[in-house]
Amino acid sequence: MDRLDELLKQIDPAQLPCHVAMIMDGNGRWARMRGRERGEGHAEGISTVRRVTELSSDIGIKYLTLYAFSTENWNRPQEEVDTLMYLIGWAIERELPDLIRNNVKIHLIGNIDRMPEEARRKLTGSRDKTAHCTGLNLGICLSYSGRWDITRAAQRLATDVKEGRIAPEDINEESIRERLDTAAFPDPDLLIRTGGEKRISNFLLWEIAYSELYFTDLLWPDFGKAEYAEALLAFQQRERRFGKTSDQVTNG
Ligand code: FPP
Repeated sequence: MDRLDELLKQIDPAQLPCHVAMIMDGNGRWARMRGRERGEGHAEGISTVRRVTELSSDIGIKYLTLYAFSTENWNRPQEEVDTLMYLIGWAIERELPDLIRNNVKIHLIGNIDRMPEEARRKLTGSRDKTAHCTGLNLGICLSYSGRWDITRAAQRLATDVKEGRIAPEDINEESIRERLDTAAFPDPDLLIRTGGEKRISNFLLWEIAYSELYFTDLLWPDFGKAEYAEALLAFQQRERRFGKTSDQVTNG
């Protein structure tokens, strides 16, 4: 039995995270270590996207959210931005038949209007063609940042107050949550970051209030199914208290 099967056998299907979010870091370093262009690291990173999507779908995780391109990533050299935009559009189009066959529903999260026309067309086209799927919900964050999303929710709330749809005193966590771009997803149970850095980088700031955080030094292209299974096992060994005491959690 190989290592992945061994690990999968140890995972309790009843204790899987409902929603896993991932910060895919380390593509550039992976390429540089091999004397290659950073773009080649991103191309390699697409294989990992495929692997984590496949495993999530196979073991019955309901929501997977990937941080593919942040608001801040627009500040990278234009050549790298162009490569990433091309790769994202190309990958989504190439994977579409398999995504549909595996019943994966694509959700686009972020300021998609800012994406170049061709990538946007491929992304929205793929999203629309998976609208009927009922398996894994795959959230792809593009031109996204947590502060961008919270700011926009505040703008929407201000408009709703101005136009009389909600009173200021009725604003609560739910009225903010439902105006976020991630509203269709529950909060992540587990956030995984590859690439060795231990920070959040403006990802899902509102949503990760009680998420378990898992950091690995592996670079994103080196993150395989077995490493993902290890993260899921680590998650199952944590005690989630949501602000309560250990006794309260254990004794119901
Ligand atoms: C961070 O690595 C990675 C990115 C900014 C892009 C990740 C995007 C993909 C793998 C493509 C995703 C495609 C789809 C369809 C979801 P980095 O460049 O910051 O690496 P470094 O820290 O080593 O420089």
